[in-house]
Amino acid sequence: MSDGNAMNWDALAFGAVAAGGRIRVVRELGALRAGLDRVRAGGHRIALVPTMGNLHDGHLALVRRACELCELVVASIFVNPYQFGAGEDFESYPRTFEQDLEQLEHAGCQLVFVPDGNTVYPQGPDTITRVQVPGLGDVLDGASRPGFFRGVATVVNILFNMVEPDVAMFGEKDFQQLLVVRRMVADLRLRVRVESVATVREPDGLAMSSRNGYLTHDERARAPAIYRALLAARDRIAEGGADLPTVQAHGLRMLEEAGLAPDYFKVCRRADLAPAEPSDRDLVVLTAARLGKARLIDNIQL
Ligand code: PAJ
Repeated sequence: MSDGNAMNWDALAFGAVAAGGRIRVVRELGALRAGLDRVRAGGHRIALVPTMGNLHDGHLALVRRACELCELVVASIFVNPYQFGAGEDFESYPRTFEQDLEQLEHAGCQLVFVPDGNTVYPQGPDTITRVQVPGLGDVLDGASRPGFFRGVATVVNILFNMVEPDVAMFGEKDFQQLLVVRRMVADLRLRVRVESVATVREPDGLAMSSRNGYLTHDERARAPAIYRALLAARDRIAEGGADLPTVQAHGLRMLEEAGLAPDYFKVCRRADLAPAEPSDRDLVVLTAARLGKARLIDNIQL
């Protein structure tokens, strides 16, 4: 535990210190709630970092920021079947639990919640009450992956209700997801505060992602074209003069020339992801592209 402020979670919540102060893994909802109730009763704030595991420095940046904001940092690891479409990579999604634990502990996370499918979806994901965020959840990735944001909003809402965090951490890498979660929190009057963290990138600009592991050596060498295309779009818009359809067409062409199959490359209003008008000021450029087995997304704010 790197943070000097970190509370002794085990002593406080469970009355026993785990051997070597190791990070604690909780799988049952009852145990989670009992422990967290005692943490809250002690006046400590709780941060939640929801993840699907296979952690990298992007996830760990969320954990580190969470450590600055709250005394107890809970990470959840749950590969959520409900947000994967038919034919998507749910089965093959990388699962690296032991490594994840080590990295979380090193970053200062004290508790990992690892629910199984029945704990999250007692009725099975097909019949569960759903959370839908219309509009924001239907464009861009929501259009390409129907049901994806319903799956995300539903599971994030369930995780919020299980952990009842004061603060929840989300990466700007998944910018549309961040907006969907913020809208859900606002619309459902949830008490949690949503904090975002800037995208963590590889030295060549590729946004870190669990799905980068799907890339072959050759594909990995092509992948930084995504960030280059976003930077080019940002520069063209900043210079002024270029109309937005031209910027978008240029972005698509850059991706195609690098051997990627772009899904979309769009300049949008940052607040609601509506197509940008020339008079709009706060913009975000978002893109998704296929490269071999991977579907990669990235964005840049202006
Ligand atoms: P996952 O892809 O594991 O990402 C978990 C969190 O890490 C998300 O908030 C994501 O935006 C953030 N993240 C991923 N890569 C990042 C990077 N390079 N820089 C900064 N942050 C990054 O997103 C999900 O899981 C799921 O949809 C989830 C929210 C857990 C719901 O199932």
